[in-house]
Amino acid sequence: MTPFHKTLSIWFQQNRRDLPWRHNNNPYLVWISEIILQQTRVEQGLPWYLRFIERFPDIKTLAEASEEDVLLVWQGLGYYTRARNLHKAARQIMLQFNGEFPGFFDQIRNLKGVGDYTASAIASISFGLPHAVLDGNVFRVLARIFGVFTPIDTTQGKKEFARLADSLLDKKNPGAYNEALMDFGALQCKPLNPICSECPFESQCYALKNHQIEYLPVKSKKTAQRNRYFNYLLIRYNEQFYLQKRKEDDIWKNLYQLPLIETELDLKETEVLSSSRFKEILKNSTPVIECISPGIIHQLSHQKLFIRFINIRLDQPVSLNEYSLVPVGQLFSFPFPKPLNEYLLKELNKTI
Ligand code: ADE
Repeated sequence: MTPFHKTLSIWFQQNRRDLPWRHNNNPYLVWISEIILQQTRVEQGLPWYLRFIERFPDIKTLAEASEEDVLLVWQGLGYYTRARNLHKAARQIMLQFNGEFPGFFDQIRNLKGVGDYTASAIASISFGLPHAVLDGNVFRVLARIFGVFTPIDTTQGKKEFARLADSLLDKKNPGAYNEALMDFGALQCKPLNPICSECPFESQCYALKNHQIEYLPVKSKKTAQRNRYFNYLLIRYNEQFYLQKRKEDDIWKNLYQLPLIETELDLKETEVLSSSRFKEILKNSTPVIECISPGIIHQLSHQKLFIRFINIRLDQPVSLNEYSLVPVGQLFSFPFPKPLNEYLLKELNKTI
């Protein structure tokens, strides 16, 4: 054991989080947890993890489910590509490996939606294979302790950090080592307000000694943000609502939504109501505009969505090609993006 391993391992013994997928290192459970935790903090993801494995306790159940059922359980967690890929990968495991989770790094890495990080996590935690994980926590811990200033979002940075992570890996206990480093990053060496005064690496940490904690790790670019304006039409006809599946390769693919008028600019309500798209959707019906919601801002990782809902009542149905009329009682069997689900729950509880 190197001094680095020893320090980390003592810290881990005292601070290890008791997480459900850590109880037996079952690769299916570790896989699900790692995919959920990719863009989500542990406390946030835990309820989804528990619901997911209750509904899909094994690979076969997941593979045999419909994509819609998987999205329904994922609803509200965001980054829905993760759910679609989990479902595809479960089917891939049934076909290629007879339903048995594969145990070699390359096989795991070839599963749909599994990248270097996830493959390393599963390979080390469930199969004891010597692969070091590199996630946001690990980048931060290594950059600070060892004083690495190469930006983490560059090819050079990734290479350098991967080399450092590999050289540090405890090859005898790769799973516990990886988990320890990730917990250390999440609990001790936090992005803001790390607990440096009680840190076991206090005397060695480059960033602490050189007052660089807040500057490490370095990122080369700020990600550009895109503003989008979503005007959703909650069109009610005879206690039924118009719904559509989002098909484009865009956010929320294969989730359901209301008729949408998306604009590049922040239009006024009156401009939306007189737009050609509004007329196209409502055709020659006589819509009654019941109310327009206040604007909601929904922040995604690289997009800011400005959403408003326009409640409309119709006396006669209009036939809309891409939309189905769904009775209110069936509405919540469809997976919706979080802001839509929240609005529908609020509106329909109020009026029905
Ligand atoms: N974040 C993502 N995966 C994790 C793991 N296995 N342990 C701790 N934090 C994590």
